[in-house]
Amino acid sequence: MSDHPKRYTITAALPYTNGPVHIGHLAGVYVASDIYARYQRLQGRDVLFVCGSDEHGVPITIKAKKEGVSPQQVVDKYHAIIKKSFEDFGISFDNYSRTSAEIHHKTASEFFTKLYDDGKFEEEITEQLYDPEAEQFLADRFVVGTCPKCGYEESYGDQCENCGTSHNATDLINPKSAISGAKPVTKSTKHWFLPLNEYEEWLKDWILKGHKKDWKTNVYGQCKSWIDDGLRPRAVTRDLDWGIPVPLEGAEGKVLYVWFDAPIGYISATKEWAQQYNKDWEPYWKDKDTKLLHFIGKDNIVFHCIIFPSMLKADGSYTLPENVPANEFLNLEGNKISTSKNWAVWLHEYLQDFPGQQDVLRYVLTANAPETKDNDFTWADFQARNNNELVAIFGNFINRVVVLTHKYYNGLVPQPAYRNQVDTDTMEMLKTYPSVIADSIERYRFREAQSRLMEVARLGNKYLADEEPWKTVKTDEERTKTIMYVALQIAAALAVLSEPFLPHTSEKLNEVLNIPQLGDALNWDAITDEKELLPPGHKIGQGELLFSKIDDSQIEQQLEKLRQSKKENEMNNATISPQKETITFDDFTKLDMRVGTIISAEKMPKTKKLLVLKVDTGLDTRTIVSGIAESYSPEEVVGKKVTVLVNLAPRALRGVDSEGMILMTETADGKLVFLNPDLPDVDNGATIS
Ligand code: MF3
Ligand code: ZN
Repeated sequence: MSDHPKRYTITAALPYTNGPVHIGHLAGVYVASDIYARYQRLQGRDVLFVCGSDEHGVPITIKAKKEGVSPQQVVDKYHAIIKKSFEDFGISFDNYSRTSAEIHHKTASEFFTKLYDDGKFEEEITEQLYDPEAEQFLADRFVVGTCPKCGYEESYGDQCENCGTSHNATDLINPKSAISGAKPVTKSTKHWFLPLNEYEEWLKDWILKGHKKDWKTNVYGQCKSWIDDGLRPRAVTRDLDWGIPVPLEGAEGKVLYVWFDAPIGYISATKEWAQQYNKDWEPYWKDKDTKLLHFIGKDNIVFHCIIFPSMLKADGSYTLPENVPANEFLNLEGNKISTSKNWAVWLHEYLQDFPGQQDVLRYVLTANAPETKDNDFTWADFQARNNNELVAIFGNFINRVVVLTHKYYNGLVPQPAYRNQVDTDTMEMLKTYPSVIADSIERYRFREAQSRLMEVARLGNKYLADEEPWKTVKTDEERTKTIMYVALQIAAALAVLSEPFLPHTSEKLNEVLNIPQLGDALNWDAITDEKELLPPGHKIGQGELLFSKIDDSQIEQQLEKLRQSKKENEMNNATISPQKETITFDDFTKLDMRVGTIISAEKMPKTKKLLVLKVDTGLDTRTIVSGIAESYSPEEVVGKKVTVLVNLAPRALRGVDSEGMILMTETADGKLVFLNPDLPDVDNGATIS
């Protein structure tokens, strides 16, 4: 814990301004980076913590089209909402900027121009995907197709959300325009490429051979696999009309690739901050003794570990990130969080339903942070952690200390008497926590750090429960004073140590204990140094409940909200397929459909979807292989009356001859169901016409 850099530049991924922010954003990036920044500030270090809205890129244009407004209107709307959410949750950015700001346009243009002038780009006319119907080039998210690496069919032009690979739109198999659905043609156009291949050796040295082994395994592993696969030149410009114009002659109608301009946003946000406070921005980016850290989600790894560092390297005057602590994803009630499916807990909505309870969410998201693997957020867990941990342990301890201090001593910290072994052990134990928590934070293990913090509250709770001042007060006045003195020291330590994690709670607790009155004396190190945190005679303030119970009805309300969005989503997705080509009556009468009954069923070995059925068709008993195993178990279908197309030419499926087809339809949530002619007096073999 000794040699610390002169300053810290901490960045948090710039969120896209195509929607509000949700718990996934908070858990993945913002709470973690905020804990880190707050902790370093508490240590008295020079910290700059920046972020801002990522306002360019295709997702924003798509959103604008959908809502029938201009891209600028979209970003203005969401920039305001997002900024407010971050403030409400106490994310302590020194500056929250935006990439539509003039200073950013200028910074990004100049960055590009310098690389251009230094000959760092390759200029090339290439064939790019073009939508002949929409009459525009299809960059990035304007095109979907099959990922060449993993086979995922909904990969975007620049990145596959399934495997994380970043590729060129022309690499997609079966590309389709996301605007019109049209099959793209190719059209030639000029672009500027950053030849990542030329940085391969350097990246190998810097990441693989360098000291980056202390990067999280998920981050290091992804970098290694990209470098091992070989890097190719990446276009840093696009044929789009929303973005930062390419600052070159003959580049009309072209803008910088959003992933070129956005990370430069960290630099612009720094400049904007420096202007505001009359500081020099450069040391935060160019001094060797600055520790640069990028907090991001796992889908951003390639951009922050390969592409942006290569850009910085190409410029030559910047420092490179020391670490890129990326988190995995947070799911919600077992499903992937999705903005478009409204499967999310939106921060601004959370605050309407749980006013003043931002620390509860911060707490739960840190306790469950997806640090090493994807994790699930459930409302039941949220309630349990609030009621059983924050209320029952932390809140309860503080409440008892405050109430008893007022009751016994009119709110004055008592003068302790003789300390017994339990008191000494407890104080010794307390002293160890600042460094234990600090150590976890320094290693980006925020879950671990927070659970250590809770151990401090547990320590206090247990101490009170064991020493029972409410009993000794009747028999031993001196003993009671010592107990309350020790308990008050623990409470004060909690006020300090909880600040990075639960800033609102820490602030309240500071007020309750009247800590500001003590001046600067109370800090992280004071606890270890065993300075007296709350001296005898210090008067504490009035009690205030730090946390309150969350009851079942509040949880039920949240679950109902989710069920509602699932329903709405299913309705929106129930697309009606267009009518097929006209057929004649004769065509129709060729189909021989009969009522039948399934008399036995078993799973086709080694398949997920197929059941082998024996069906009584009235004509005979025959074998039919049906793809319904994901909707029905064999037991469920035996005895069911069904509609059978009996004169379909037999077909072998996995070596079993299937003689006919059972008619089915699909429910809104994708379950196959029988067209069930289960009417009275209809026998097997009855024709359907
Ligand atoms: N907007 C991107 C996302 O939400 C993150 C941009 S991070 C930056 O995935 F480095 F480009 F700023
Ligand atoms: Zn993929």
